[in-house]
Amino acid sequence: MATNSTFISASLLPHLLILLLLPLSLAAPGGGKWNLLLSNIGVSAMHMQLLNNDRVVIFDLTDFGPSNISLPNNQCRNNPNDLTLKVDCTAHSVEYDVASNSIRPLNVFTNVWCSSGAAMPDGSLLQTGGFNDGDRNVRVIKPCTDSSCDWQEFNNVLTQRRWYATSHILPDGRQIIIGGRGQFTYEFYPKRAGADQAYNLPFLSQTNDPRIENNLYPFVFLNVDGNLFIFANNRAILFDYVNGVVLKTYPTIPGGDPRNYPSSGSAVLLPLRDLQGGANITAEVLVCGGAPRGSFTSVNNGNFVGALNTCGRIRITDSNPQWVMETMPLSRVMGDMVLLPNGNILIVNGAAAGTAGWELGRNPVLTPLIYRPNNPIGLRFEVQNSSVTPRMYHSTAILLRDGRILISGSNPHAYYNFTGVQFPTDLTMETYSPDYLDPRLARVRPRIISPASQSQIGYGQQLTVNFTIEGRIDRDFITVTMVAPPFTTHSFSMNQRVLVLNNGNDSSSIVKSLGRTNYQVRVVTPGSNIVAPPGYYILFVVYREVPSQGIWVQIK
Ligand SMILES: *[C@@H]1O[C@H](CO)[C@@H](O)[C@H](O)[C@H]1NC(C)=O
Ligand SMILES: *[C@@H]1O[C@H](CO)[C@@H](O)[C@H](O)[C@H]1NC(C)=O
Ligand SMILES: *[C@@H]1O[C@H](CO)[C@@H](O)[C@H](O)[C@H]1NC(C)=O
Ligand SMILES: *[C@@H]1O[C@H](CO)[C@@H](O)[C@H](O)[C@H]1NC(C)=O
Ligand SMILES: *[C@@H]1O[C@H](CO)[C@@H](O)[C@H](O)[C@H]1NC(C)=O
Ligand SMILES: *[C@@H]1O[C@H](CO)[C@@H](O)[C@H](O)[C@H]1NC(C)=O
Repeated sequence: MATNSTFISASLLPHLLILLLLPLSLAAPGGGKWNLLLSNIGVSAMHMQLLNNDRVVIFDLTDFGPSNISLPNNQCRNNPNDLTLKVDCTAHSVEYDVASNSIRPLNVFTNVWCSSGAAMPDGSLLQTGGFNDGDRNVRVIKPCTDSSCDWQEFNNVLTQRRWYATSHILPDGRQIIIGGRGQFTYEFYPKRAGADQAYNLPFLSQTNDPRIENNLYPFVFLNVDGNLFIFANNRAILFDYVNGVVLKTYPTIPGGDPRNYPSSGSAVLLPLRDLQGGANITAEVLVCGGAPRGSFTSVNNGNFVGALNTCGRIRITDSNPQWVMETMPLSRVMGDMVLLPNGNILIVNGAAAGTAGWELGRNPVLTPLIYRPNNPIGLRFEVQNSSVTPRMYHSTAILLRDGRILISGSNPHAYYNFTGVQFPTDLTMETYSPDYLDPRLARVRPRIISPASQSQIGYGQQLTVNFTIEGRIDRDFITVTMVAPPFTTHSFSMNQRVLVLNNGNDSSSIVKSLGRTNYQVRVVTPGSNIVAPPGYYILFVVYREVPSQGIWVQIK
């Protein structure tokens, strides 16, 4: 794996093992473990969302014929608008239950292909748009603990069709839906009297090359000043969505290559700290990978151009923001970027050549990377253990409450094609366990005693977390983080956010020892609904880079 000493010095496990003076069967740096969970979940996981019942809602599209899982109770979908089957007795959405490692088919009626969504303040998933008969619909699934919850559809409630749009949850609990094929506008849902129309966003037409549409699934983040950072193609704006005003135009990303679908790179908002500081908080965005300009045209002529190996990082809150470029150890298009509980970033899935789109990717990248945002430049990337399963177009990755990364999907075809193709439709589901889950770290893994999972918290309030750690620790290295579970599709995780809590005065936390293995940490919850839009988050106690199992908290 990693032979370069750069990666060795950045590695977590040897460092911690040395620090902890545990038996040193010194592993190679850059570990992590891959585990197959299920060999057939019935659908290809094009979209995934974890809900606060520890179940993952998964769906792909309805119009390509039968999936590999039947609807329950011999039900069939009778949809005269379906483009392939008018009567379809298979499911195109499923729910994965983490605790029992099992799948339950769900009923979705209209086409949810290449859509968007967000978990709402009450924990429901509100999915927006799709294709054909579903492109102006929204669908809601409210989490349950039995088998009673299923999709509820609301027809033609969006003002415009939203196919390849991006959603973001707002401080007031509504969702904003931005762009989509041929739509240079945004709108809100739920609708409000006097604000029920779509509003123009010329930036989306300015960044649109009509032959390629290199600005789909824009990367959208809610900035700490309440405005939206919107990245499309190769540049970004800071947008006041309330007044419809562009407040700032960021420089074009160096090199000028497009990073959005079908040149699909990925992007994250780096973990936010000092959460009482309002608009004074520093916010940074990291954009990684993609396909060079011209790749889509080349690929359609049979020439699979190598993917980009660069990331651009920018402090979006600076008065004169500038991109800082970094080089990844591997090139990647169609990768997924997953924020981890300890504030690091996993970059996984994707290909080393081609673009997004049917049949347009080559050379799967089986090797994930960890990016440590707080390390000095040059010491941030670490190569991890490889998987054996190509996860190309239409694959997804999300964080689970226990710290594992759930990975599924990959279907570069317009149908389910299991034979006669280079990259068969993949219905397997697996996890990647970063090396912070190595059993040799058990003695330093925090275990949260209180508060109880599903507790409610307010804004800017004291929060006391009791936890245990078996082994000896240095209390200065305890942190508390909150992770918002994102809606993931097409290499972008909408609403993904990590908040690093502190004691309200400085960046340290106050940790008290309550006996040999018991501790208490006092933190202040996020200062506002701009920093932390209302809803469910996973709260973790982290020792150095080792997270506890998380608990669900609802902030409102
Ligand atoms: C992954 O990495 C770890 C640590 O470097 C190593 O012990 C393990 O054997 C590797 N391979 C697999 C398949 O987990
Ligand atoms: C999917 O279903 C088809 C048709 O029933 C079957 O031949 C195939 O083995 C299934 N594929 C997987 C990956 O389960
Ligand atoms: C932001 O910084 C300014 C200037 O230092 C200060 O006056 C203001 O109170 C700060 N705002 C918050 C919310 O901390
Ligand atoms: C995939 O399967 C469909 C339906 O059976 C077929 O029409 C199509 O040619 C296949 N695609 C490829 C790339 O082989
Ligand atoms: C946390 O621990 C302290 C000290 O043992 C105890 O007094 C307190 O009740 C605990 N809090 C909760 C919510 O269990
Ligand atoms: C912040 O510091 C002040 C002054 O030192 C102290 O009174 C206050 O309790 C501290 N607040 C928190 C949340 O620790």
